Amino acid sequence: MWRRTIRLSSILASSRPSLIIQTETAYRLKISERFCSEVNGGSPARDKTPFITFVLGGPGSGKGTQCARLAEMFGFTHLSAGDLLREEISLNTENGSMILNTIKEGKIVPTEVTVKLIQEAINSSANDKFLIDGFPRTEENRLKYEQIVGGEPNMVLFFDCPKDEMVKRLLSRNQGRIDDNIETIGKRMEVFRAVTLPVINYYSNKGKLYKIMAVGTEDEVFERVKPIFTGLKFGGVMKLNI
Ligand code: ADP
Ligand code: C5P
Ligand code: MG
Repeated sequence: MWRRTIRLSSILASSRPSLIIQTETAYRLKISERFCSEVNGGSPARDKTPFITFVLGGPGSGKGTQCARLAEMFGFTHLSAGDLLREEISLNTENGSMILNTIKEGKIVPTEVTVKLIQEAINSSANDKFLIDGFPRTEENRLKYEQIVGGEPNMVLFFDCPKDEMVKRLLSRNQGRIDDNIETIGKRMEVFRAVTLPVINYYSNKGKLYKIMAVGTEDEVFERVKPIFTGLKFGGVMKLNI
């Protein structure tokens, strides 16, 4: 269980309760109420569970790019599962070489390893709101997170991007990643289709999924995702039941 004294005020500065109330679904309202509890005179510092947003999408769909902007604008801590794993490689930890080989193959790192890194990152942060990027990638990731970290995410973003566009972006990402080559990209796309899409469907069925059309410039995509957090409506964002 979460036992940390925290404040939601920083994110709330940009929230607009009157507009949030106009949003379409009870679920959104529930999230908005949570965002707005302090604005509306809720108790000040108190024990609270963190506000967790999972961020999903195929490789190259723009998760990391958009998370960085959301973190900056709304005060989230951005935790990229891939970055946490790559850090293990660069620190040469006991799992480092196993992680390196798994990433090279475009496969999924054993869930306990990834969940532990996420848990440690959350625990070591004073923040109370997180974007967890690139996780959960599999049903096992999802279930273990629920068991070990506890609870479900408050919401899930899905950056929906055609495969051709994702491949194009990955091939020009130019960050020296060992998995941004055509062979590994093919494997990662298949893993996404086979094991991550079912997780996305799971959250859709739970009414937690926000699908964002990820084609267009970075600015255009950000204009679609921003309203999810500000409570403004925008045509490019829809709550999905697929
Ligand atoms: P992901 O984290 O989903 O794998 P990234 O955010 O790393 O994706 O983006 C992959 C590559 O595509 C990066 O080089 C990034 O600069 C670029 N990129 C991100 N968003 C867009 C966009 N909307 N249009 C074109 N290129 C983009
Ligand atoms: O999200 P990102 O593209 O940075 O992930 C890179 C790689 O890290 C994935 O292809 C996969 O090998 C590994 N990974 C994983 N489990 C996660 C997230 C990433 O195994 N939940
Ligand atoms: Mg990324």
